[in-house]
Amino acid sequence: MLLPRLLRTANGTTRSCKQFLQIETRTRQLRPFSSQWRLQQQLVEDDLTHLPNIDPSKLEVTKSITPKQLVPNQDLVFGRNFTDHMLSIEWTASQGWLTPRITPYQNLSLDPATCVFHYAFEAFEGMKAYRCPHDASLRLFRPNKNMQRLNKSVARIALPTFDGDALIELISEFCKLDQRFIPNEKGYSLYLRPTMIGTQRTLGVGPPGSALLFVIASPVGPYYPTGFKAISLEATDYAVRAWPGGVGDKKLGANYAPCIVPQLKAAKRGFHQNLWLFGEEEFITEVGTMNLFVCVKDKQTGQKELVTAPLDGTILEGVTRDSVLALARERLEPQGWKVSERYLRMKDLAEAEQEGRLLEVFGAGTAAIVSPIRKISWKDQMIGCGLKETEEAGEIALKMKNWIEAIQYGDEAHDWSWKI
Ligand SMILES: Cc1ncc(COP(=O)(O)O)c(C=O)c1O
Repeated sequence: MLLPRLLRTANGTTRSCKQFLQIETRTRQLRPFSSQWRLQQQLVEDDLTHLPNIDPSKLEVTKSITPKQLVPNQDLVFGRNFTDHMLSIEWTASQGWLTPRITPYQNLSLDPATCVFHYAFEAFEGMKAYRCPHDASLRLFRPNKNMQRLNKSVARIALPTFDGDALIELISEFCKLDQRFIPNEKGYSLYLRPTMIGTQRTLGVGPPGSALLFVIASPVGPYYPTGFKAISLEATDYAVRAWPGGVGDKKLGANYAPCIVPQLKAAKRGFHQNLWLFGEEEFITEVGTMNLFVCVKDKQTGQKELVTAPLDGTILEGVTRDSVLALARERLEPQGWKVSERYLRMKDLAEAEQEGRLLEVFGAGTAAIVSPIRKISWKDQMIGCGLKETEEAGEIALKMKNWIEAIQYGDEAHDWSWKI
C-alpha cells in the first residue's frame, strides 16, 4: 500500500511519514488521548519542528546584468512593471526552509501537475516600501502585521509557516537592492507582493510536501494622482464574498477570482465596486478589496460614531483597518467620537441617510489608504453618503489619509514605520 507523503498528527499539524511514525512509536505505550499521551506527542512534535527556519544570514544574491529602464512616474500603472530582482525561498517537508535567494526577476518553471494549479495552494500579501522625502530613508509600514497575516493564511491551507522577522530582514535587503525603483516623491512607493505556493508535483489532494515563498515588487504612483475621487458602490446580495467558517479572513488567491464576475456586473451598471453584504440581515462587510468605515450620528444622543464590521472570521484583518481604528481611538475619541467594531445593517445605513445622520463612508486598504464613497445603490434606492456634489472626500477620510501617510513617509516619527 502506498502511504500519503504527509500525515496529520493528533495535534493537527502535518508531518512526513517518517516523522509521523517516530511520533506514533514514541507514544505507543501511553493510552491514546490521555493527557500524558497528548503531552508526549507534543514534546516529540516540538522536537521535530527543529527543521531549519528562514535564515537571512544564508542569503545568496545574484544581481541582474540587464537592469530595466525606469518607467516615467506619470506612466506607472499598478502592478504592471516590476523591479530587476525577486526574492525566493524554497521549503520541503523533510528539510524545512532552504537558502534564501535574490535573483534577477524571472519566470517560474513548474510542472503542469504542480498542486498550486489544481487546488489553489496560494496565499499572498500586499505591502509597501516608502522613501522618506526628507532623508531618502526607506521604510516599511507595519510589516509585522503582513507577516502575521501571511502566516495565518498559509497555515489555513496546509502550507508551511515561517519566521516573519526573518522574512522582513530579507525583504529589506531586496528593497535596498532595488531602491532605484522608488521615486523620492510623496505618493510613490514600491508595492511588495509576498506570495507562497504549494509546489508539490501531484494530483493527489493533500498537504503539499514542498512550497515556494517569493516576493516581487512593483513601483506604484499615488492611487489618486489628481486628488481624491469619490467612488460609487453596488450593494451585492446575490453573491457572497465570505461566510462564517470560511476563509474570508485569510488572504488566499482563491478568495479573489470569484469576486470578479460580480465586479464586472456592478461596473456594467455604472458602479466602481461591490459592497459585500452578508445574510438575511444584510450586514455590511467589506467594499471590493477594502475594509469599510461608516461615520454616523447616533439617533438618540447625536454622538458621532466611526463604525466598521467586527473581525468575525468573514472580514479580512486589514492593516489599514487596524491603523484607522488605532488612530481614531487615539485622536478622534478625545474629540467626542465613539469608535466601534460592530455589525451595521444596510437598512441602518439607509435610515441614517434618510434622517440626515450619515456623515461619510470610506473604504480602507494599502493601495489607496482611504477611498471615499459618494453613493451606494441598494435595491431600488440610491443612498447618498454625506458628500456634497462638489466634495470628493469627507473630513475623517481626509484626516486618516494625512495621518497615515505622514507616518508611512516618515514625516511623523512612529513605531509603525520601520526604517530599512
Ligand atoms: C478583501 C480585502 N479586504 C481588505 C483589504 C485591506 O487590507 P490592507 O489594509 O491590509 O491592505 C484588502 C487588501 O488587501 C482585501 O483584499
